[in-house]
Amino acid sequence: MTVYDIIDAKKKRRTLTAEEIAYFVGKVADGSATDSQIAAFCMATLLNGMTDEESYLLTDAMAKSGEQTPRPAGGGIFADKHSTGGVSDSTTLILVPVLASLGVKCAKYSGRGLAHTGGTLDKLESFPGLRVDLSPAAFESQVERIGAAVAGQTRATVPADKRMYAVRDVTATVDSIPLIASSVMSKKLASFADIILLDVKYGDGAFMATLEEAEKLARLMVRIGERAGRRMLAAVTCMDAPLGDGIGCNAEVNEVLAILRGEKENCLSRLSLFHAAKILQAAEGLSETEANARASEAVFSGRALKKFEEMVAAQGGRGADVYGTLPMAKNMKKITAKAEGFLQVSALALGKACAALGGGRTKEGDAIDHTAGILLQKRQGSFVKRGEVLAEIYFNASSEEGCALAESAFTLSDQKIEARPLVYAFIGGKE
Ligand code: URA
Repeated sequence: MTVYDIIDAKKKRRTLTAEEIAYFVGKVADGSATDSQIAAFCMATLLNGMTDEESYLLTDAMAKSGEQTPRPAGGGIFADKHSTGGVSDSTTLILVPVLASLGVKCAKYSGRGLAHTGGTLDKLESFPGLRVDLSPAAFESQVERIGAAVAGQTRATVPADKRMYAVRDVTATVDSIPLIASSVMSKKLASFADIILLDVKYGDGAFMATLEEAEKLARLMVRIGERAGRRMLAAVTCMDAPLGDGIGCNAEVNEVLAILRGEKENCLSRLSLFHAAKILQAAEGLSETEANARASEAVFSGRALKKFEEMVAAQGGRGADVYGTLPMAKNMKKITAKAEGFLQVSALALGKACAALGGGRTKEGDAIDHTAGILLQKRQGSFVKRGEVLAEIYFNASSEEGCALAESAFTLSDQKIEARPLVYAFIGGKE
């Protein structure tokens, strides 16, 4: 068997065997498959697809290609959640403390922001001193001790995915549903969560632009996870407009704190509690009504806020005064309505604007200005009058591009445009 034979088989649309997939992934992980061979394999897969079994085998081989996080010895049910990425999507930072405060342990591996999407690890680092590079042992022990940890996977985890993703990124082979599904799910399966909730976004600011593609991806990831013995839940949710009002690290953390203090309710709080309740139902066999009530109670009792503070402190974060707010950049510019009408807000344009203002990154490894960002003053669908403030943009280094992108995010229409459903479909559990 050679890597060449496996690429040739995929090119000729032959279904690959478990041995062939394991062999190929092994060669990717140990460095002996070349970048051009990986690119050829990914392009053949993009064009010819994969059966469900091949997708599962690829995921399983990638998950086992490196270090795996050991399951805590103390037992219990562990939950994880993954979002395909969005704008003002801080659901993890709300859902994790809500669930942990209710006794459902959350072992959450997260990523960094890239392009127009924000990253949970960057947001957590808004707290000075907070560490997200926990070793698998430290991660496991924190989950055991306080019921919640949010960290980045180490370089030794899923090395096959790291190499394949880097090649896909520069060879126009990212947008293959089997490759995305195996990439996302390999990282989930390298950890020990029993219940995995996937939030697959559709719309303007989403990775998958159409509803159909988002649902296809969600269903394939659910089948892969179930084949691996995990309890899978997936929601297909809207990312036409930002979920919350803050865009950028400090802005988003401040909004999370306001939601956890029970001071704010919006799409972000609703979606976070929706996800938390779905996981709670799966973990504890509760009815939908009971699960919703317990998730809301975790917020209104202040227990989730306390758990958030505990988690930030456990990871070395200072300044987690949950009643305070994190600072915004020194310069502020207001965006006002040029006319009256019903407001449309583009998540994609605001995400790009935030990156251009310094609050995000255009390429991996770029530094982030946590204080840069945007605070929306008006929501999608509201009727606004000429001159009303739509948003405030915060920046340290002035950026014409950032300001222009932020301005372009707002359009006004004579007629009210119905928002697409926040949760379009829910897969797994009780659909
Ligand atoms: N995110 C991932 O982790 N992998 C992909 O392939 C695409 C998005």
